[in-house]
Amino acid sequence: MLEASAPGVGTVMSSVQLHFAKLYFAGKAQNWPLAEFELHEVEENLDKAVALRPEEHGVNLIGLTDAFKQTQLTALKEAAAQKDGDAFQAAYTEAVGVCNGCHEETQRPFILITVPTIPPLSNQQWTPPMRPSEP
Ligand code: HEC
Repeated sequence: MLEASAPGVGTVMSSVQLHFAKLYFAGKAQNWPLAEFELHEVEENLDKAVALRPEEHGVNLIGLTDAFKQTQLTALKEAAAQKDGDAFQAAYTEAVGVCNGCHEETQRPFILITVPTIPPLSNQQWTPPMRPSEP
């Protein structure tokens, strides 16, 4: 019934998942422009998801998403801007916890996000492209 009134949230969340995984490998490879790009995609898709379903089980999903953007996702952006790999790793792990916090609050503890171990796709380079001016 809820699904019928709010179609597409699961699909949009799958996009969040993909971009969030790409984000990890971009950061790990110190490809900071790609990390910033993927962060934007994560935010855009999270916004789409909560626009489709602003509230569930009495939980304010827009509020949770705003808090996520202002804290952990901002920490990731700052780490990328400062090209700080250690800060990025720490912020990423915290962000994973927020993904799962919302899934738990919305009664889906079985959707458990983890730090990825292998890239989600094999047809994309994570390291920055070589430039002639660089060694
Ligand atoms: C504000 C709450 C909230 C946050 C934050 C959130 N999710 Fe979700 N997520 C949901 C809800 C609600 C669903 C169930 C959607 C549905 O009904 O299909 C969901 C479902 C999912 C699914 C299952 C999709 C499917 O159909 O297989 C994945 C994967 C997912 N989320 C990934 C993430 C990731 C990765 C993050 C963190 C970057 C995240 N989510 C953050 C609320 C959230």
